[in-house]
Amino acid sequence: MTGTRNIIAGLDVGTTKICVIVAERADNGDIRILGVGLHPSRGLRKGEVVNINQTAESIRAAVDKAENICEFEIGSVYAGIAGGHIESFNSRAVIPIANAVLGVTEKDMIRAGKAAQTVALPRDREIIHTIPQAFSVDSHRGILNPEGKQGIRLEAQVHLITGRVAALQDIINCIRQAGLDVSDIVLQQLASSLAVLRKEEQEAGVVLVDIGGGTTDYVFFRDEIVHHTRIISVGGDHLTNDISLGMRLLIPQAEELKKRDGQALCELAGDNSELSVPGALYRHAPGRTHQKLCRIIEARMTELFQLLRDDLEAEGHFNLIGSGLVLTGGGSLLKGIDILAARVTGLPVRIGTPTGISGLREVIDNPIYSTTVGLVKYGFSMDSSHHSVITGSGGMLRGVKNLIDRYL
Ligand SMILES: Nc1ncnc2c1ncn2[C@@H]1O[C@H](COP(=O)(O)OP(=O)(O)OP(=O)(O)O)[C@@H](O)[C@H]1O
Ligand SMILES: [Mg+2]
Repeated sequence: MTGTRNIIAGLDVGTTKICVIVAERADNGDIRILGVGLHPSRGLRKGEVVNINQTAESIRAAVDKAENICEFEIGSVYAGIAGGHIESFNSRAVIPIANAVLGVTEKDMIRAGKAAQTVALPRDREIIHTIPQAFSVDSHRGILNPEGKQGIRLEAQVHLITGRVAALQDIINCIRQAGLDVSDIVLQQLASSLAVLRKEEQEAGVVLVDIGGGTTDYVFFRDEIVHHTRIISVGGDHLTNDISLGMRLLIPQAEELKKRDGQALCELAGDNSELSVPGALYRHAPGRTHQKLCRIIEARMTELFQLLRDDLEAEGHFNLIGSGLVLTGGGSLLKGIDILAARVTGLPVRIGTPTGISGLREVIDNPIYSTTVGLVKYGFSMDSSHHSVITGSGGMLRGVKNLIDRYL
C-alpha cells in the first residue's frame, strides 16, 4: 500500500455503520489519522452477515471515501469481528520444562501456550484469539514473564476466543469481495479497549463496554490481563425499535427522536408535553411525551446494565473491578447513560473516546470510532513486517500466532 511510510488501515464492520481509518505511524511512534470513511452498514444483523453482497458494497463505499481523503489505495485491512456466535473461555495446560537447569525458555512458553490452546472444539468453531494471562512454575502462580525461572512444570493460562467458522468466513468473504485483503481479524471490544483504556485502569480492574447498534460487547481486565469477554445481543437499535413500537413511529423517526430527545433517566426528562417529531407520517398521535420516551429508554438500558452486572457477578469478577465501567460505541452517546449505568451497577462510570492518536478531531472525540482506532493501534503493535504482507486465507490463524508471538 505504501513505499517506506508506515501506513495501515482498520475496518470496523459494524451493524449500523462501516468505518475505515487510514493512519500513519511516524518514526517516533506517534500515530496520525490520514483519512476516514464512514458509510451506513447494510447486510448485517447483530454483528453477523446476513447478505454478503450488501455488506461488501457498504464496505467498498466506506473504503472509497477513506481513499479519496487520504489519496492512498487500501490493499489490506485489520478488521473487527463480533456477533452472537463468538464464545470465550479460559483454558490452562501444563508442560514439563525442557531444561531444568536453564529454566523456562521462550520455547517452553510457546509450547505451554499452544498446549493451553489445544481444546476440544466443535467442528464448526475455531479459535480467533489466544490471549495469554499468566504462567505458573511449579507452585509459584501468577507469573507474567517466567523466562529463566527454574522448576519442573510450566503452566500457561490463556483466554480463548472462538467463533463459528462460517460466520468468520462470511465476513472475510465480504471484505475480499470489496477488493481488500485481511491482514488480521480482531474481536471488536478488544480493539476498542486498545483505543480507550488506560494502563492503570486495566491494572486496577475495568470493564470496557462497547454499546453498538446490534450488540453490546464487553471485556474485563484486571492486572492488565483479559479475564472475560462477552457479547450481549442488545444494542442501540433495540432501543430504537422499542421507541418505534412504544411511540408508534417509523424507525428513522424513532432513531432521530432517541438521539435528539432521548434521556436514560426519567427523572431528568422534561415535562409531560407532547413531543414534536419532524417528518412523522402520523402527525396526530396521543401520548408522545418526553416522559414516555424516557421510560422506554430507561427500561431497556436498565435491563442491559442488569444483565452486565449479573454476568460479572456470576463470573466472580464484580468485586475485582477497582476502577469502573468505561462506556464507548454509539450507544454511549445517549444522554444520561453514564448516570444510569452507575446507578444500576453500583460502579463508577466514564465515557471512553479514542486516545493516543492525532489527526481528525471529530474522530478522536467520538466514541463511535473507538473500535476502528483500536484496530489501527492493534495493527501497528504487530511486527512491522506484517504490514506490507497481504495475507490470503491465513488471516485468522495469524491472529492467533500474532498474539502468541506478542505475549508468549
Ligand atoms: N446521540 C446518540 N444518542 C443515542 N444513541 C446514539 C446516538 N448516536 C448514535 N447512537 C446509537 O448508537 C448505535 C450505533 O453505534 P455504533 O456506531 O457504535 O454501532 P456499530 O459499531 O455500527 O454496531 P455494532 O458494534 O453493534 O456492530 C445506534 O443504535 C445509534 O442509534
Ligand atoms: Mg461497533
